[in-house]
Amino acid sequence: MSGQKGVCLLLQCGCACLWLSSLASGALVIFKDDEAPQENRRAARSLQPQVEVHSVIVECTVTSRFAHTVMTSAALNEANSSKEIFFEVDLPKSAFITNFSMEIEGKVYVGVVKEKEKAKKQYEKAVSSGQTAGLVKISGRKMEKFSVSVNIAAESNVTFILTYEELLQRKFGQYEILTRVKPKSLVQQFQIVTNIYEPQGLSYVDAHATFLSNELLPLVEKTVTDKKAHISFSPTMEQQRKCPGCDGTLIDGDFVIKYDVKRETSIGEIQIANGYFVHFFSPPGLHRVPKNVVFVIDRSGSMSGRKIQQTREALLVILEDLYEDDYFALIQFDHTIDHWKDSLTKATKENVTQAMNYVRNIRDLGGTDINDAVLRGVNMLTKDRQEKRLLERSTDMIILLTDGRPASGITDIPTIQRNVQSAAGGNMSLFCLGFGNDVDYNFLDVMSKQNKGLTRRIFEASDAALQLQGFYEEVSSPLLLEVDMQYPDNAVDFVTTSHFSQLFNGSEIVVAGQLMDNNLDNFIVEVFGQGFEDDFKVQGQASVVDWDVMYPDEKYIFGDFTERLWAYLTIQQLLDKSKTGEPHEKANATAKALEMSLQYNFVTPLTSMVVTKPETEGEQDEPLIADKMTEEQRQQAEKQAAYQYVRPASYQVPAPTYFVDGDPHFMIELPDRNDALCFNINDLPGTIFSLVRDPDSGILVNGQIIGDKKIHPDGKINTYFGRFGIIHQTLGVRLEVSTKSISLFQDGKQIKLLWSDMAALTGPNVDLVVTKDHSLTVTLKDSVKFVILLHKVWEKHPYHQDYLGFYTLDSYLLSSSVHGLLGQFYHGIEYEVTDLRPGEVPEKPDATMYVKGQELNVTRGWQRDFRTDVKNGINVPCWFIHSNGSGLIDGDATDYIVSGLFETV
Ligand SMILES: *[C@@H]1O[C@H](CO)[C@@H](O)[C@H](O)[C@H]1NC(C)=O
Ligand SMILES: *[C@@H]1O[C@H](CO)[C@@H](O)[C@H](O)[C@H]1NC(C)=O
Ligand SMILES: *[C@@H]1O[C@H](CO)[C@@H](O)[C@H](O)[C@H]1NC(C)=O
Ligand SMILES: *[C@@H]1O[C@H](CO)[C@@H](O)[C@H](O)[C@H]1NC(C)=O
Ligand SMILES: *[C@@H]1O[C@H](CO)[C@@H](O)[C@H](O)[C@H]1NC(C)=O
Ligand SMILES: *[C@@H]1O[C@H](CO)[C@@H](O)[C@H](O)[C@H]1NC(C)=O
Ligand SMILES: *[C@@H]1O[C@H](CO)[C@@H](O)[C@H](O)[C@H]1NC(C)=O
Ligand SMILES: *[C@@H]1O[C@H](CO)[C@@H](O)[C@H](O)[C@H]1NC(C)=O
Repeated sequence: MSGQKGVCLLLQCGCACLWLSSLASGALVIFKDDEAPQENRRAARSLQPQVEVHSVIVECTVTSRFAHTVMTSAALNEANSSKEIFFEVDLPKSAFITNFSMEIEGKVYVGVVKEKEKAKKQYEKAVSSGQTAGLVKISGRKMEKFSVSVNIAAESNVTFILTYEELLQRKFGQYEILTRVKPKSLVQQFQIVTNIYEPQGLSYVDAHATFLSNELLPLVEKTVTDKKAHISFSPTMEQQRKCPGCDGTLIDGDFVIKYDVKRETSIGEIQIANGYFVHFFSPPGLHRVPKNVVFVIDRSGSMSGRKIQQTREALLVILEDLYEDDYFALIQFDHTIDHWKDSLTKATKENVTQAMNYVRNIRDLGGTDINDAVLRGVNMLTKDRQEKRLLERSTDMIILLTDGRPASGITDIPTIQRNVQSAAGGNMSLFCLGFGNDVDYNFLDVMSKQNKGLTRRIFEASDAALQLQGFYEEVSSPLLLEVDMQYPDNAVDFVTTSHFSQLFNGSEIVVAGQLMDNNLDNFIVEVFGQGFEDDFKVQGQASVVDWDVMYPDEKYIFGDFTERLWAYLTIQQLLDKSKTGEPHEKANATAKALEMSLQYNFVTPLTSMVVTKPETEGEQDEPLIADKMTEEQRQQAEKQAAYQYVRPASYQVPAPTYFVDGDPHFMIELPDRNDALCFNINDLPGTIFSLVRDPDSGILVNGQIIGDKKIHPDGKINTYFGRFGIIHQTLGVRLEVSTKSISLFQDGKQIKLLWSDMAALTGPNVDLVVTKDHSLTVTLKDSVKFVILLHKVWEKHPYHQDYLGFYTLDSYLLSSSVHGLLGQFYHGIEYEVTDLRPGEVPEKPDATMYVKGQELNVTRGWQRDFRTDVKNGINVPCWFIHSNGSGLIDGDATDYIVSGLFETV
């Protein structure tokens, strides 16, 4: 999470991934195991590996928290033909790549850092053809993956070298260096070497690995002296072996080093070298300052299910962890805002117990009014301050948790940001927790930074409650407020941020700057802050550490680490300012950050690294471009990835989705509003409805209703869709899909497929993909994409029979005259929901909906989307429109009845 203060920076070095596999083309590819297609895995088992990985070496040098990592891997193509070799590395997302090179047959190809826009332009053709895309991809929560591939001639060697740098951040009282290694084969020379130089002295160093058994543990060499630690792990090929005689490797997982430095002086640690200074500040012996915290919790409909449950769970723990001298308040919001008490409450046991009951009753409901909810919190704090209800020496904070974007009340983002900033007036910190992939990360990030806080992403997963608690813990113990770091004006220049609203327990403040001259006689440092009872004030004098004297035996040139650390910190802060500053500041900050990224060879969000690959036969020179992603881009990428794969436990909708499945229930999902509408259409079995009809493009989808095999004893007749007819007139395509088979008519020919087939049909105008007994994906050239799901019911079921569901995946190319029960919604729908009130069932409140000039009674409910889980479906909360969707759909449901599966009337 670049730019987030108080976040742990992990150093994670992953390694060339070494899983060998033969592709159909004959190219040999090094895959990560979990990415290797099944067939390839099988094929590879019967082949001798033809790429031999000679070495995987990770060398990490940390000098006063500044980590410089070099990863080297060498491989030999033993085959008698050329092969493609992949190099993949997981590196921390907080790190900047600074260099990459490949040596092939004695020739070195070195990456050049260029301005991103210019690099993109220069290689426009390659970029637009997608050849260069994705050199850096997301990889889990903390890392990103760098990967390249090159074609290596027969019996040739290749060596890859990747270098990256970052400033380790202290969190929970420690620094962490994490190296992820997954060499899927045995490696002749495998080595992870870390040297840590901390002139202040090391208080402890701990090294462990997730894959190390008791046998392998002694292989980790650890030598720790007062100011230096050397940790090395270099198992032989025999020691890497999973079992005697087998080829598998034991090495697969994370190698983790944790350490902390001694903290003895209240002025902190000041390092001076090569014309730059760095000041680390987290003095010992401070007391905690009480805090006043307002929790602002999103309970909008999209939070329903697991998210709201995890939020309640986390809040219960957090409330219990409050200190008795803290004050707190609880606000929950959707399109309306409710709070527990009118003002903040002292966190005594009794009060916390009461609050916990309130939290247990938080239920998900309607829209998302972030503006009013945050302002409610701000006003509560302001009022309590004015009325002197809070301790004078205490800090004020708001913790906002949301999974969406503003959708009710004021929704204009700059307006909300202005409102919050002017109401808070710099008097409190706003921390935002963005839950899941549908949050507007950039909005929260900017708003929190404008208000002395930061934004953290909460990943939708089973540990979400722990992530929430972890974040709270980080900010739960402020030790100093309004910390001001002062350096003599006439001695320093280009100093990074030197004022901090809080210093939290377990973290550390870092300031760096240039020295104007090397006359350090008057380099006096002063720190001011507000402590628990008194003002904090220390003064100290910096002295130069002679690194050659302190580390006489080291060949490593410590050289410019202070300068690079300063550059790293300055660029991070400029990147923040380029998002949160005034317009003229933004432009200047961006320009300056770009200039420094180029000067120091850092791959930041403003630069790209370009490597020119060696020419391969018959192909043009094709550049490789490595980019750095922003947190927002990472989120977008994760959202897309999540959409592509099965995610039974979570549900997010990246694009509007329209479908009919089950009962038959119709669903219109509106991700922009974080909301959905749903209705049922009931009619007699045999009736055919028009679902989509676009006279302009000649597209038509009709569906026929079927009933149960037999009438249920309770008299209820369930109906479903059992047959669909799809026509694309202009392309001359006609498709009939029933629960038994799929028939395609085109150019006077008929092709019949069975649901029990596993088939893909690719034609000039239509693509069909059948997943055995599960789904049919239909892509009509230049127009639409549908998925039809088959619900198979147990053959001997007394009443039910197989039925179908219909999902529109892509409808953007349909004309504005598209209509039909689903089609009429393809161009959006405007509506408002108000006046939420108890309904017949407590979980399903009623509300009033204004839509198409009418006022409707609607009910909050759920419908199931079966795309990712065809058996159980995933509950999607929606506003249910009664009586066959009347009032929502144009006209009446019977207006949509047609006379045949391929008829328009
Ligand atoms: C390459 O090796 C394969 C077997 O590994 C062999 O069949 C083929 O003839 C060899 N080709 C050349 C050009 O040596
Ligand atoms: C990048 O790596 C290459 C090859 O290892 C080296 O020659 C070059 O000096 C490095 N560039 C920088 C800026 O460190
Ligand atoms: C490849 O590299 C290895 C290790 O450096 C070396 O022993 C071998 O001779 C090299 N092979 C070729 C074909 O260059
Ligand atoms: C700071 O955190 C450490 C553990 O991380 C704890 O032992 C210590 O008591 C805390 N200090 C204060 C002042 O809360
Ligand atoms: C909280 O608890 C304390 C004692 O348990 C009580 O005196 C106080 O009035 C309660 N309420 C508030 C709003 O602080
Ligand atoms: C912020 O606090 C200062 C000092 O208490 C006060 O004068 C000012 O009005 C406050 N700002 C707002 C917007 O409440
Ligand atoms: C922006 O940059 C220009 C040119 O470097 C400089 O003259 C100007 O003072 C800067 N403005 C701000 C607000 O920093
Ligand atoms: C909505 O329901 C209420 C009762 O809950 C009823 O009084 C009202 O007439 C209904 N409105 C419409 C438009 O059906």
